[in-house]
Formats: sequence, structure tokens, C-alpha cells
Amino acid sequence: MSHYNIAIDGPSGAGKSTIAKMLSAKLGIKYLDTGALYRAIGLKAYRDGWREDDGVVADLLNRVNITVSYDNDGKQRVYLDGEDVSEEIRRDFVSGYGSRFSALPSVRKALLDLQRRIASEYSSVLDGRDIGTCVLPNAKYKIYLTASPEVRASRRYKELIEKGQEAEYEKVLSDIQERDYRDMNRKVSPLRKADDAVEVNSDELSIEEVINKIMEMVK
Ligand code: DC
Repeated sequence: MSHYNIAIDGPSGAGKSTIAKMLSAKLGIKYLDTGALYRAIGLKAYRDGWREDDGVVADLLNRVNITVSYDNDGKQRVYLDGEDVSEEIRRDFVSGYGSRFSALPSVRKALLDLQRRIASEYSSVLDGRDIGTCVLPNAKYKIYLTASPEVRASRRYKELIEKGQEAEYEKVLSDIQERDYRDMNRKVSPLRKADDAVEVNSDELSIEEVINKIMEMVK
């Protein structure tokens, strides 16, 4: 097949990155985790004590450089001003910063070109919140992957416990609900299903079943 992109949007914890990663490996194309870019900005904001003021942040962003590279095995690395922050952006507190600062129009604008450049360079799967609606409105395939907040919270809770971290289900659930609210209600590019996206609800589906559903579309 010639160049194509697959857009996967949906709320936190719906399984987008797992699915996108497996799908890209199956199809032999790249995977761009766009949340990682927002997390890198969130990390910068945390480190430098930024306030959520769009005008001020727009100015600060002129001096920030976010880049992406791929390891030989396809793993994505994210660099913040030349520093590899791929691991640090996964820390729990960065999620909140990423979500808060991703609501600012200046932040979304700053990351738009980078996402479009990578998508035009490579056939790829991109996952995020506004890929099908804003970043790549002409993507060949669009999926809106969702699951109920309770199912997403219990999956996340299980993951944390398996990693040996302390967790409380109620807290995990309320964090997810808070993030959903922020992602769905911000003024610029809120999370929503693109009109031409296919909705997949993973409440009752295994990872393999979701992959199979999407592979059917792509075939
Ligand atoms: O997918 P994630 O949890 O790593 O994303 C971190 C935050 O970035 C998330 O709360 C919402 C935001 N985000 C966004 O606004 N648009 C995207 N395309 C990807 C992520």
C-alpha cells in the first residue's frame, strides 16, 4: 500500500498506545505516541514552574525544542532540548501537567507541525485526542477507541499493583474522570469522535479482539 496514516483517538486508559504499538508492528509502519509530546511540554512546565497563561507560555515555547527519534526496534524516543526524557515523562505527576498544558492553544499550535511532519514522512499510526479531528483530518483510517471510566480505572489499578506501586482504585478512577473532563471540555481541539471515525468500545474486548477489528478495516 502507498503512504497512509491511521488515527486512533480516545480517552486516557482506553488502550490506545498498546493497540497502536501492536498495530504498527503488524503493519510494518511507524507509531507516533502524540501524548508523549504533550508530556514533554508538561515536564518542562513542571521543571520551570510555568503558569497556565497562554500568552506567557507561547513566548516560553519559542525557546523549547521537542524532537522525536526511533530506535532500530521502532521504539519512539522523545527529546526535550536535546535531553532524552522518554522515561521521565511516564512518571505519574507528568500526566496531570501534560493534560493541563495541552489545553493551551499555544501548546497545541507548537506541536501541530511536528506531528504532521512525522505523519507525512512515514506511513504511521498516531494516537492521541485530536488526530482524526484536527491533526490529520484526511487520515485514511480513523478509530475512536473508548471504554467506560470504571473499566479503564480497574485496568490501570491492576497495572499499578502488578508493578508493585501503591494504588487506590477510587483515586485512580477520580484521576481518570478529571482528565476526561479536561480533555473533552477544553476550548481548542477537545477530545471527541471524528464524524468519520469508527468507534470501538473495548469494555468487553481483549487486546487481540480490538486489533483484529482494526485489521479488518485496514485490509
Ligand atoms: O495519552 P497521554 O495520557 O500520554 O497524554 C497526555 C496528555 O496529553 C493527555 O491528558 C491529553 C493530552 N493530549 C492531547 O491533548 N492531545 C493529543 N493528541 C495527545 C495527548
